[in-house]
Formats: sequence, C-alpha cells, structure tokens
Amino acid sequence: MKIAPSILSSDFSRLKDEIQAVESAGADWLHVDVMDGHYVPNITIGPVVVESIRKVTRLPLDVHLMITDPDKYAPEFIKAGADWVSIHPETCREPGATLKKIRDFGAKASVAVNPDVPLEKVEAYFPDIDMILMMTVFPGFAGQAFIEDVLPKITAARRQIKENGLSVLVEADGGIKADNIGRVVNAGAEVIVSGSGIFKTPDYAETIGMMRNAVGKE
Ligand code: DX5
Ligand code: ZN
Repeated sequence: MKIAPSILSSDFSRLKDEIQAVESAGADWLHVDVMDGHYVPNITIGPVVVESIRKVTRLPLDVHLMITDPDKYAPEFIKAGADWVSIHPETCREPGATLKKIRDFGAKASVAVNPDVPLEKVEAYFPDIDMILMMTVFPGFAGQAFIEDVLPKITAARRQIKENGLSVLVEADGGIKADNIGRVVNAGAEVIVSGSGIFKTPDYAETIGMMRNAVGKE
C-alpha cells in the first residue's frame, strides 16, 4: 500500500514545511489536487506551484486534474514535475488521446472515476493507463464524507485488472482516514489518498503509522 497525502488540506502558508513533514513521516507519494473553477466549483493549484513543489521533495508527484481541458494543460504539469497524471474522461473530447499524450510526455497516465460512474464506462481505457483513480467522494473539496458504495467497484476494478493480466494500480481518493483505510485496502485499493485524514491531525508520523497498522486488521 502506498500513502499519498493530499496537500489540499495542508497549511499553504507553510507548504514546503508541510510537504517535508509528510515526507519524513513516511508518505510514499504526494497528491496534488488541481481544480479550475469550471469542472469543479473550486480553484486550487497551477503548474507554477507544482514546479516549486518539485524542488522541495523527492516524493513522486501524483497530480489529479479536475479541469475542463486536461489535453491542453497536462503537458504543462508534466514539464513542471508531475510523475502521475489523472484525468476525468468526461472533461476530454478524446480521453484516449489525452492519456496517450500524458505517456508521450513521460508521465504515468490515470483515469479518474467519479462515484456515480460505472466501471463499464472506463474499461476501454484499461490498456492505455497505469492507474485507475476511484473517487470515494465527488470531486471538488477536501474534507467530505467517504462514500461506502464505491467499495464494490474498487474490488471489481482490481479483479478485472488481475484477470486481464494488466499492470494498472488502483488508487482511492476522498474521505479516507485511519478509521476506514482498512476497508478501502481490503476492497482492493493499492494507493490511498488522504488529505484531511493526515493534515488535520497533530502528528503526521503517528497518523501514517496508524494507517499502516489499520490495514489488514478489518
Ligand atoms: C477531492 C480531491 C481529494 C481530496 C482528498 O476533490 O480529489 O484528493 O482533496 O481530501 P480528503 O482526504 O480530505 O477527502
Ligand atoms: Zn484528488
């Protein structure tokens, strides 16, 4: 299991310290939520910020694009230092072409699946992706309640990937904390995003430790 703290819940006035704190607390990746005020009603981070983040951490940058034109902007985020790029297929005219572009620019490509989108809608992209991002909240804000109904879809995605011999990671994002992470990992998620579940706790190392301990105990 990889843990990817989402900096959206960090203290932006101390972003470098926050990033280095989760890095030394044992985070595996850093999740960066990019929102444009169009696809979602919130505005967050652009490529210039990713470029600055890239300079202060060695963690892989997992950039989640919640924007209307990822085909246009994905290359800028990759040039800024993104290692993984997730897109929402409903935001692209040709999701397959955007995913290919992400790989051509040297990053790993991922498709994000909203809680109300069935797996069948995204199965066609499986051969062209390195990861599937299962949203366990609706995109737009940190600190929302985890949607339990997504768990069987996580299990189905993991099963299908295995049955087809594909090497695609399953990531889960939204409302995950130490008290429900066990269920998410048992359902089949391999990369766990957590924003408020980590940054709103006093001791990041203790929280990440609790998360690792919780896995396998449910
Ligand atoms: C939601 C974002 C999530 C979110 C995670 O739109 O994609 O990454 O910030 O934050 P928590 O863990 O607080 O739900
Ligand atoms: Zn996210």
